[in-house]
Amino acid sequence: MGIVVIKLGGSLIQGLSNTFFEHINLLQRNGKKVIIVHGGGPLINNLLLKFSIPVEMEDGLRKTSNEVLEVVEYALNGKTNKDLVIMCNQFNLSAIGLSGCDNLLLEASLYDKGKLGWVGEVENVNTSLLELLLTNDYLPVISPIGVDKIGQKYNINADLAAKSIAKALNAEVLCYVTNTNGVLNSEGKSIEKITKDQVQALIESKTITDGMIPKVQSALDALDEVQSVAIVGENFLNEDGSMNGTVFTKGVVFSE
Ligand SMILES: Nc1ncnc2c1ncn2[C@@H]1O[C@H](COP(=O)(O)OP(=O)(O)OP(=O)(O)O)[C@@H](O)[C@H]1O
Ligand SMILES: [Mg+2]
Repeated sequence: MGIVVIKLGGSLIQGLSNTFFEHINLLQRNGKKVIIVHGGGPLINNLLLKFSIPVEMEDGLRKTSNEVLEVVEYALNGKTNKDLVIMCNQFNLSAIGLSGCDNLLLEASLYDKGKLGWVGEVENVNTSLLELLLTNDYLPVISPIGVDKIGQKYNINADLAAKSIAKALNAEVLCYVTNTNGVLNSEGKSIEKITKDQVQALIESKTITDGMIPKVQSALDALDEVQSVAIVGENFLNEDGSMNGTVFTKGVVFSE
């Protein structure tokens, strides 16, 4: 089954254009099975501000105390997931909202020995649950809260969650839809094709910062298992079906 995993950035969710949903519709009509994983950064930040809880980020990852985790759950599992499911279904996309906690969809453990609090990394993806939904033409819409076997919940960066899901399902496409038209160079122009070495250099020169760091790193990490990986803007499909943004490639290997 040709699976397309779309990571939808939190900053886009409230003002999404019809084109985004029409592109998903087009993918489905072309026989692709689509999964959406969503973030929710701006809403989480607004809620934290309301509760007077400081926003602390490290290389694009959110430090997650007990109280931050609670707010992340309200924002992602609550409002964002359901808003997005409702929007999808207005376009007849048969969306079903899930969190990573549902039937251990995203089984998680502590990221980096807990240095960032309750940030999680994915240990296992319940692929049979997703396959069941995809086979029956549902569109899973997933919020990236993971859980472990003893019931502890984790805040998983949505870019990393999307990558883990795409790898576990051997997806055909992993597409990060964000609020820029791909990875921008030092002149602010979108880079068409990018390799691991270029990504490294752009992080070192601080051209790639903040939330773009986990995105490019997870994009590179997915390349072995996923045929096509890209970071794109909201109108993510070109007329010929190619991705409109930055496409990741393994780079040219020269033999002697
Ligand atoms: N070189 C770069 N090219 C493009 N964006 C960059 C770059 N370096 C840093 N960024 C920042 O990364 C942001 C995208 O990551 P961000 O985490 O904010 O959004 P998202 O992942 O789409 O949403 P969410 O985290 O809510 O899921 C851009 O809006 C931009 O501010
Ligand atoms: Mg992000």
